[in-house]
Amino acid sequence: MYIIDTDPGLDDAHALAMACRMLPPEQLVITTVAGNVGLGAVTENAAWLLEQWAPEVALYAGAALPLSGAPVDAAHIHGDDGLAGFPRERATRRPHSEHAAVAIAKLARQHPGTLRIIALGPLTNLALAIALEPGLPDLVADLTIMGGSPAQHGNASLNAEFNIFADPVAAEVVFARMRHVTLLTWDASLAHRFSRAELEGFWAGGSAPARTLRALHEHRISNDPEYAANTDFGRPDPLAMAAALAPGCIASAREHRVRVVHDGGLAHGVTVVDERDATSDRAPVRLIDAFHADALRTALTV
Ligand code: RIB
Ligand code: CA
Repeated sequence: MYIIDTDPGLDDAHALAMACRMLPPEQLVITTVAGNVGLGAVTENAAWLLEQWAPEVALYAGAALPLSGAPVDAAHIHGDDGLAGFPRERATRRPHSEHAAVAIAKLARQHPGTLRIIALGPLTNLALAIALEPGLPDLVADLTIMGGSPAQHGNASLNAEFNIFADPVAAEVVFARMRHVTLLTWDASLAHRFSRAELEGFWAGGSAPARTLRALHEHRISNDPEYAANTDFGRPDPLAMAAALAPGCIASAREHRVRVVHDGGLAHGVTVVDERDATSDRAPVRLIDAFHADALRTALTV
């Protein structure tokens, strides 16, 4: 069983398309969290995408606010609606009434040792699920996270990555408690960007996800001159999805303990890779450094 916790989000949409292509719908559950845009919009986007690609996949809405501090968003990147203003009908399906954090805790108990979680947004739902089910770290097989920038290439602040910066308290809870964590950092995504031809090759096919991603991309190209002028494109969430669902594309990784600063100061939301910590009670995190280029492109193709 797989849970994808997400804040769609244009790169989230590509990652969800990969999951819909690679996983049977009965093994997939989607939970949403406020991040790129507000909870209502990311949940509407997830419902709209699933309606076209995998209507039988269960959907749960989660946290609307971070555990602490003021909410932030990335509407300047993803548009106020989260999908760059792409003209579309409102989704007909609604999420389950149960909160995403309750669903995560329940599914972990129902699938002890086999539940795999992929987190593509702020980690608020996961921190809440740990509070609801303290045994979560022993129940979850593994957790793949897109987040953090140990080299401090800030995309949300001077030196912090968005998913962690949006809820650093939740992120510190997750890195301190969870085990079998793989982290796809913003740094790694900067090292694996794609040309426009490569990007358009990912959705050149005839599948429903390919058609949707192509339409979203073409709309953005037509309406966002800054995006259209890019010579290369980042796809952080799809890289995390590739690491989880096609691990053979990982070329190199290292293991260290990770800590998150949440003091409200200049380093608020910074992820610190503690290379000297070999004994603390938190588990080491596998940080991906590089991918095999051909295998990665195959994994991102929908
Ligand atoms: O920093 C990149 C991350 O923030 C991605 O998950 C993107 O979707 C945004 O949520
Ligand atoms: Ca995301």
